[in-house]
Amino acid sequence: MDAIEISDSDRYARCIQISKRVRWDIDDDVIRGRRFDAAHKFLPDGLSLADGFTTLSADEKRFVSQIQGRTYANVFGLVERFINAKILELTHDHLFGDQVALEALVRFSDEELKHQALFRRIETMVGEVLPDGYRFNIDPNAVARSVLGKSTWAVLALTLDIELFTQLHYRQAIDPDSELSELFKDVFLYHWKEESQHAILDELEWVRHDAGLTAEERDRAVDEFIELVAAVDGILQVQAKADAGYFAATCGRVVGEAEARAIEAAFLNAYRWQYIHSGAQHPHFGKVLSNLITENQGQRIQAALATLR
Ligand SMILES: [Fe+2]
Ligand SMILES: [Fe+2]
Repeated sequence: MDAIEISDSDRYARCIQISKRVRWDIDDDVIRGRRFDAAHKFLPDGLSLADGFTTLSADEKRFVSQIQGRTYANVFGLVERFINAKILELTHDHLFGDQVALEALVRFSDEELKHQALFRRIETMVGEVLPDGYRFNIDPNAVARSVLGKSTWAVLALTLDIELFTQLHYRQAIDPDSELSELFKDVFLYHWKEESQHAILDELEWVRHDAGLTAEERDRAVDEFIELVAAVDGILQVQAKADAGYFAATCGRVVGEAEARAIEAAFLNAYRWQYIHSGAQHPHFGKVLSNLITENQGQRIQAALATLR
């Protein structure tokens, strides 16, 4: 059968339709009166890269997954701040145009505000069952201001990367693991339900915006995308250090200098996987990106990503 051509307007309309059907409530659907239990892992092994923490016991690896779960909530709260700001900005392109596209983006924005509220709740709830001393000292507004200083093309590239990797994260979280927190699993599930539409909208907006750029503007935007990925990596390095320090201070035994360095490296490796490579390696991301850029630009991006290993 021939592939049926779906117009962009229909794709925006479908996103609205699905968004209405899957819409959920933070308390009624996700949290449902539950609390976290420190007996469970919060992130699955496929995301926390538990095997990479070679010097730790099983209990300590579980603690690492809980620290990473708290950081997950913080990082999403942070990236969703700039994603929402960019989406609201893009609504202006549609104000007096396609009202279906406008509605799809308004719903996107509304969902992203709800997700930030969800992740703030999750962050607080995880904090209730973990030892004191955890730090996440990165200001989402400062990051958003700096990200939004880059071109729309670069921000949309990073945004599609992020919204595609939330889908992969959900798939990791549904792998059978009886030790994984049911509540955290639901965070992945419900987030994924709405993120799936966001990824489609990111792509529509990115391709639409790209069509208005000159080759020179796009070439500069490729460099800005590389700068954004490097900035994300800078955040991950800071947090890997903070989380490794928190682990060493609260795990209940002495962690020597060499082991502390290995733990920090394992945190950074996991965070780079979660927040950079799991999206950059997503087949759909590669497909959309390669349709927009030249081979040389693709090589520049790959070379930059290769330094983050
Ligand atoms: Fe989200
Ligand atoms: Fe999203």
